[in-house]
Amino acid sequence: MEAARRLSAGAIVAFATETVYGLGADTFNVAAIERIYALKGRPARNPLIAHVAGTAEARRVAAVWDERCDRLAARFWPGPLTIVVPRSADVPDRATAGWPTIAIRAPAHPVAQRLLQAFGGPISAPSANRSGHVSPTTARHVAEDFPDAADLYVLDGGSCAVGIESTVVDLSGAPARVLRPGSVPASALAEILGEVATPDLTAQAAGPGTEPRHYAPGAAAELVCTASLPGRLSKLREPAVVLCLDRGSVEAPHLAIVMPSSPRAYAARLYDALREADACGRSRIVIEDVPLDISETEGLWSAIRDRLRRATRRSEE
Ligand code: TXA
Ligand code: MG
Repeated sequence: MEAARRLSAGAIVAFATETVYGLGADTFNVAAIERIYALKGRPARNPLIAHVAGTAEARRVAAVWDERCDRLAARFWPGPLTIVVPRSADVPDRATAGWPTIAIRAPAHPVAQRLLQAFGGPISAPSANRSGHVSPTTARHVAEDFPDAADLYVLDGGSCAVGIESTVVDLSGAPARVLRPGSVPASALAEILGEVATPDLTAQAAGPGTEPRHYAPGAAAELVCTASLPGRLSKLREPAVVLCLDRGSVEAPHLAIVMPSSPRAYAARLYDALREADACGRSRIVIEDVPLDISETEGLWSAIRDRLRRATRRSEE
């Protein structure tokens, strides 16, 4: 397999997973890892997820892989769950940006699984976008983010079915802590782990994976609740693009991109819609907030709202 050969030769390759596309390198090849940081413009202290075929490989990169990890893996792997545990001394420092822990995920997408089998080792991969930009959910999105890397190999697996990044759960301390919400809800983790701490989604950065502004389009973007949407749109001087749940709330000169009403379909469409909105060339994107009580922190709508908040947070904050 060409992509596996390239990884073995020290190159980086992009590949489909069920969440978003990843930009991968051999976990044990420091020079290849450095190339990922350079190509993405990624901050040097932001660690990478090691992608593995399954628990046998996870044990290779973890210093501690306990019974809780096995139970999580048995229930959610392969799939959109990333598990943070103490890092094995065999793993180079750069593969975790110097952190003593390592994030590990076995992706379910057949393309990712074939690549991991063919390569035969862990693949460190962040999402395959420029740092801070919207994550890619198609091979075209990857190519658009790296126009100057014409030789970047992209293993195309179509549109990502989940569409938002994996849930990240940190098991390196007690209690277990959700660092990033995703399609695996905290309640499902709690069934296995007992107590699970969930993040304060409005808090400032407190470690890797918690940067407040992220997943952001180029245009100024704001999040507006359904009730305030008509009033907000009538006050805007310039025509905006609106990601809305119902076209009826958007009148000319504003342009509507109607989002799906089920959370699964919404998540799968979100990053493509943000890129589409950006490509309209208008200076402002208005996003109608998701249909979920403001205090609710559980479930897929809540993970989607986390991404919407990060996409619309002003960078000076
Ligand atoms: O769905 C996903 O997780 C995708 C696909 C490609 O697997 N990957 C992804 O990677 O979203 P990235 O690098 O864009 O986001 C990984 C997140 C970052 O927020 C990072 O800070 C956090 O996981 N992370 C990685 N290693 C960590 C560690 N040792 N401790 C805490 N957080 C970690
Ligand atoms: Mg990312």
